[in-house]
Amino acid sequence: MINLKGRSFLTLLDFTPTEIRYLIDSAHMFKQLKLSGQEQPILNNKSICLLFQKDSTRTRSAFEIGAGDQGAHTVYFGPSGSHIAKKESIVDTARVLGGMFDGIQFRGYRQKDAQDLAKYAGVPVWNGLTDEYHPTQILADHLTILEERGYLKGIRFVYYGDAKNNMGNSLMIGAVKMGMHFVAVAPKEYWPEKKLVKECQAIALKTNATLTFTEDPIAGAKNADVIYTDVWVSMGESDSVWQKRLKDLMPYQVSMKIINAAKPNVIFLHCLPAFHDRNTEIGEKIFQKYGFSELEVTDEVFQSKHSKVFDQAENRLHSIKALMVATL
Ligand code: CP
Ligand code: NVA
Repeated sequence: MINLKGRSFLTLLDFTPTEIRYLIDSAHMFKQLKLSGQEQPILNNKSICLLFQKDSTRTRSAFEIGAGDQGAHTVYFGPSGSHIAKKESIVDTARVLGGMFDGIQFRGYRQKDAQDLAKYAGVPVWNGLTDEYHPTQILADHLTILEERGYLKGIRFVYYGDAKNNMGNSLMIGAVKMGMHFVAVAPKEYWPEKKLVKECQAIALKTNATLTFTEDPIAGAKNADVIYTDVWVSMGESDSVWQKRLKDLMPYQVSMKIINAAKPNVIFLHCLPAFHDRNTEIGEKIFQKYGFSELEVTDEVFQSKHSKVFDQAENRLHSIKALMVATL
């Protein structure tokens, strides 16, 4: 029997493969219930706090709609909407919010802040992204892979770009937990921290997963079931890093050359938002300054039949709902 009641969700490292699979399967169930109009609310009268120190489109929507579908209500604090960290410590904020809410979504900078919130709030805290991890994203990613392939164990999962950011870290953990073959394709300085790699290697031994790190963009794609990438500059990083990132990571842009080097039915995933054209303020600024109109992924790949990024984005809703129901 899996019972996750009262548990916080701060990193996938805290969860067993069985528990993760339970969350993915229950996300699948909630998706079917919603799409067939049979969903019953079981979180009636619950109050959910949404605390964001960084902006969001998908994560906020998923928590708000997921809570609403289940009969709960939410209070949203945006990056400038509360006293947190500025005028009131994380610990004091946690004790205040813990007294009023049944669960707290936290998106912020430091993983330690998410841990402290969980420690002092006394209610489940869900990590909606920190500089280090983005665990709720992985539930949606794995649900999407399951829908496309029917299984997770043995999937060859190839990640391009900044492999030591929150997505690189969480995807690597998720992959080894679920027995996948994880490949990070990036210049060496963008590979995940050695300490985390060691931890993941130990998990991989138990789940028959494998970990590979390579600087060769074409060789890395060989036999890939999934090609995944993320932005090259994450929220909270200084604009001054763009120039070096563009130079270092442009050879790792996911183009049709990469897709064609993978399995013929490879799927392309991206947590989004993505820079695949000039239709954003930042995208246009980068084009004006450096001349690149597509960054981590080309528009051709993004729009191709391989791309499942909008199914993946929708799956944020079903998986976050499943997480709230499982832990409340
Ligand atoms: N993928 C993701 O977390 O998107 P948002 O930043 O829009 O929440
Ligand atoms: N690495 C990205 C992920 C966004 C969902 C960021 O932190 O900005």
